Amino acid sequence: MKKILTAVVLAIAATTSVSNALTREEIEKDPILKGKMLAKRCSWCHDINRTLIAPSFKEILKRYKDVPEETLKKQFADAIKNGSKGKWTNWMKEHIKARKIGSIEAMYMPPQRPYYNDKEIELIVKWLLSLRK
Ligand code: HEC
Repeated sequence: MKKILTAVVLAIAATTSVSNALTREEIEKDPILKGKMLAKRCSWCHDINRTLIAPSFKEILKRYKDVPEETLKKQFADAIKNGSKGKWTNWMKEHIKARKIGSIEAMYMPPQRPYYNDKEIELIVKWLLSLRK
């Protein structure tokens, strides 16, 4: 799995280096950029700005805008690692068209633990919190 993930990250890095002239070295030494690359997988359900089938990252950050960064680091790492259920049900009922999916109550974020190690989760959270500013 680790090998596959590395290959995926490298593939993304390779694509990016063509379009944005970023080298692999540049990505490697920039933790936020690395976190962003790792977060590609999240875009199945989350966009930065738009509502897909889950709240956008900006929406999530808005909800917790008064929560200290250290608390959010732990909270988000936990959500990524172990998944999340129930926290956004009411929000989703208002903002997500039920026709898109069967039942809002049944919606949850599956654990992403199988796809990332702790260090990678830390980098993703770093990137996510960088969108706060
Ligand atoms: C299969 C869809 C899916 C994927 C993939 C996914 N999420 Fe989520 N995410 C959700 C849903 C649905 C919720 C709302 C869960 C709830 O109501 O508690 C959520 C909630 C969250 C929250 C809010 C947790 C809180 O404390 O309120 C964060 C942060 C988050 N996701 C980050 C991520 C990141 C980062 C990734 C990629 C590593 C990711 N998600 C991948 C569906 C997904």
